Amino acid sequence: MKIGIFGGTFDPVHNEHIAMVKTAKQELGLDLVYIVPTYISPLKAIRTSTSPTDRVNMLKLAFNADDEVISDFEIKKGGKSFTFETVLYFKKLHKKDELYLIIGGDNLTDFSEWKNTDVITQNAEIVVVDRDGNYTDIDAEMKSFKRKYGKNFIKLSYQGSELSSTKVRMYSSFALSLEGLVPKEIAEYIDEKNLYKSNPYLEYLKENLPEDRLIHTANVVVASLKRGVKIGLDPEKVFMAAALHDMAKYIDPDTIEGFKYKGIPKQVVHAYLGAYLMENSLSITDKDVLDAVRYHTTAKAPMSRLGKLIFVADMIEMGRKYDGVEYLRKIFYTESIDKAFVEALKEEIAHITGKGYELFTETINAYNYYVKKGE
Ligand SMILES: [Fe+2]
Ligand SMILES: [Fe+2]
Repeated sequence: MKIGIFGGTFDPVHNEHIAMVKTAKQELGLDLVYIVPTYISPLKAIRTSTSPTDRVNMLKLAFNADDEVISDFEIKKGGKSFTFETVLYFKKLHKKDELYLIIGGDNLTDFSEWKNTDVITQNAEIVVVDRDGNYTDIDAEMKSFKRKYGKNFIKLSYQGSELSSTKVRMYSSFALSLEGLVPKEIAEYIDEKNLYKSNPYLEYLKENLPEDRLIHTANVVVASLKRGVKIGLDPEKVFMAAALHDMAKYIDPDTIEGFKYKGIPKQVVHAYLGAYLMENSLSITDKDVLDAVRYHTTAKAPMSRLGKLIFVADMIEMGRKYDGVEYLRKIFYTESIDKAFVEALKEEIAHITGKGYELFTETINAYNYYVKKGE
């Protein structure tokens, strides 16, 4: 028999997970697929601590065919699970069968850092499913994989869309439609159980931003978290700055007592006002977070890594469409945040001057500091 193994946190399971399993079954002729939700240690803040029961219940809604089995192996075991242990567990259950471990294309770069990968590759075929928004060079990975393990992984022909559980959670907490992200029954389950509850900041945004701006904001959060966590930034700070960066977009600055904005161009007032309100109304005191919001449109010299992250994420979130956005996205996700920032700054300056607008002092300073001097 051919047995598939597909692990993940599944918080929640989404349409691309479902498509991955369906494709793997079709292309490889799998007889059985084990879906293996990981144990999650109780987490704080933005990573909601969805109970294993809820994650499993949603998996049951997503995978209910006879050849799909939800395994509680890792959840029951508790603690940190290593994939090689899971593979060995299923190998024991299916001594004579062929195992196929299904992973996402974005896991490929980390794969060699997993524990005991040779045990994994000796006991299972690695099956890779790629999706948009993943900038891993699959062909290059294929070569180094072959060199290291003496065999190839299997790449399925299916190309998934850019979807993540983070996106589902963010859209859910912004009360945006989950259509196209998860099956209807799962959307209802999330809703009924109120799984990805909002927080006071998001409540504020929901009341004050129109839907398209909420979608943009949710997308900026998704991009910032995806990259920010990888480069070692504090996820809570990343979340706060990304979620609130456009909070003042629809507020008339003249109605805010004490806020002075003389000399600040109209298009960037919302960034300064946002930082002002965060500090004075929401009592956020973290200077790095406040600055990331204050300078998300103009940039400044110098910028912190969080500031750079928000600046670029705002320009490349998945809803943005303009010539050159794919280039910036690729750099944002695969190269240093410093390089991504310099490239994004150049793009923004070209855009502003192309429209015949004048550059704001802070932007000129940033240009002189980062582009001219090549820092
Ligand atoms: Fe903005
Ligand atoms: Fe924005």
